[in-house]
Amino acid sequence: MALRIGSLELDSRLLFAPIAGGSTPAYRRIARRYGAGLVVSELVSARGIVRQGIGRNYRYLAMAPDEHPVALQLFGSEPADFAGAIRILLDDPGMAQFDAIDLNLGCPVPKVVRSGAGAALLLDPPRAEAIARAAAGALAGTGKPLTAKLRIGFEAGGEQGLEVARRLADGGVQALTVHGRTREQYYSGTADRAAIGRIVSALAKSHPHVVMIANGDVDSAASAADMYRQTGAPALMIGRAALGRPWIFRDFTETVALDERIAVMREHAEGTVRLLGEEQGCRELRAELQPYLRGFTGASRLRRQTTTLTTLSDVEALLAALAATEQPDQQPETVPRR
Ligand SMILES: Cc1cc2nc3c(=O)[nH]c(=O)nc-3n(C[C@H](O)[C@H](O)[C@H](O)COP(=O)(O)O)c2cc1C
Repeated sequence: MALRIGSLELDSRLLFAPIAGGSTPAYRRIARRYGAGLVVSELVSARGIVRQGIGRNYRYLAMAPDEHPVALQLFGSEPADFAGAIRILLDDPGMAQFDAIDLNLGCPVPKVVRSGAGAALLLDPPRAEAIARAAAGALAGTGKPLTAKLRIGFEAGGEQGLEVARRLADGGVQALTVHGRTREQYYSGTADRAAIGRIVSALAKSHPHVVMIANGDVDSAASAADMYRQTGAPALMIGRAALGRPWIFRDFTETVALDERIAVMREHAEGTVRLLGEEQGCRELRAELQPYLRGFTGASRLRRQTTTLTTLSDVEALLAALAATEQPDQQPETVPRR
C-alpha cells in the first residue's frame, strides 16, 4: 500500500486528475491499469443529480468494474444538494460502487463561478465548510472518504486556498488536492509550487491526518521529483500530461511501442462507444484520441483524420494509418497541452 485516505488503500501516489472530456470511464480504466493510484470522474452537478436523478447524468457517473478505486467529483453551491446527491448515489446499487466523493472548488468556468460553485467557493470559506459537512454527513457510516480539490487562490496573487483548505478539513475532508494556479489563471502560466507548499505545511500542522496531494504541470519524473521536493506533499495528481499517455503512471514511461499505443487507443474507443453508442461516442473520440497523436512525423495528418470520425470502422482506419506511419515510439514525445 502506497497511500491511505481514510479506509481507502491506494497502491500508487500518482493519481489521475478529473478532466471534463478526459477522465471518462473508458480512459480512467486504462489509467488505472497503467498504475494510477486513484482515478476521479469529471465534475458532475450535485443539483443535476438531485433534480434529474441518475439517468440523465449516467454517462458522467458510470464506473467500470475494473477501475477502482474511483472518486466521483461533484460541484455545486448548496450544501443540501451535495447531501441529496450523495444519498441518491448511495441508494442506487450500481452507483453506490464509488470509492470516494470529491468536491470541486477549482472550476474556473464563468457559468459555474457565477452560480457560486467551483472556484467561487474559494471566496466563501463558511460555505465551503458547510458543503464539506453536508457531504461528510451523507457519507457517514459508509467508510467512503470525502476528498476535495481546490486552487491556491482566486485572483492573481490570491491565496484564499489556505483558509478554505482548513475549513474543508474542519468539515470532514480526508484528502485535499491543491492545483497551483488561481482561478484567474485558468490553465495559463505555471503552477506555483511554493504556494502549494504553504498550504501543505499549514495543514500538516493544523490537520495532520488530511492527505495532501499536489497538482499542476507534472509531466515527467523530473517535474514530479521537483513537485514532491518543493511542496512536501506525499502524493501527486497528473492531468493533461496523462491524456493519450496513460503509461506516464508506470514510472513515468515516456512512450511505448506502436502496437501498444494502438491497442490502448482501440480499447479507449471501444469503451467509449459501449457507453455512449457509436454516433455520440465517435463524436467525442474526435477530441479524445488526439492526444495520442502527437510528437511524431505524420501526427498532424492523423489528428486531422480524427475530426471526421463517425463509426468504429473510421477508428480502425485511423489506427491502420497510424500503424503505417514511421514508428512514433522512436520519436521524442511532446506533452499534450489542451
Ligand atoms: C479540459 C480540462 C478539463 C478539466 N476538468 C476538470 C474537472 O472536471 N474537475 C476538476 O477538478 N478539474 C478539472 N480540470 C483541472 C485538472 O484536474 C488539473 O487540476 C489541471 O489541469 C492542472 O493539472 P495538470 O497540469 O496536471 O493538467 C480540468 C482541466 C482541463 C485542462
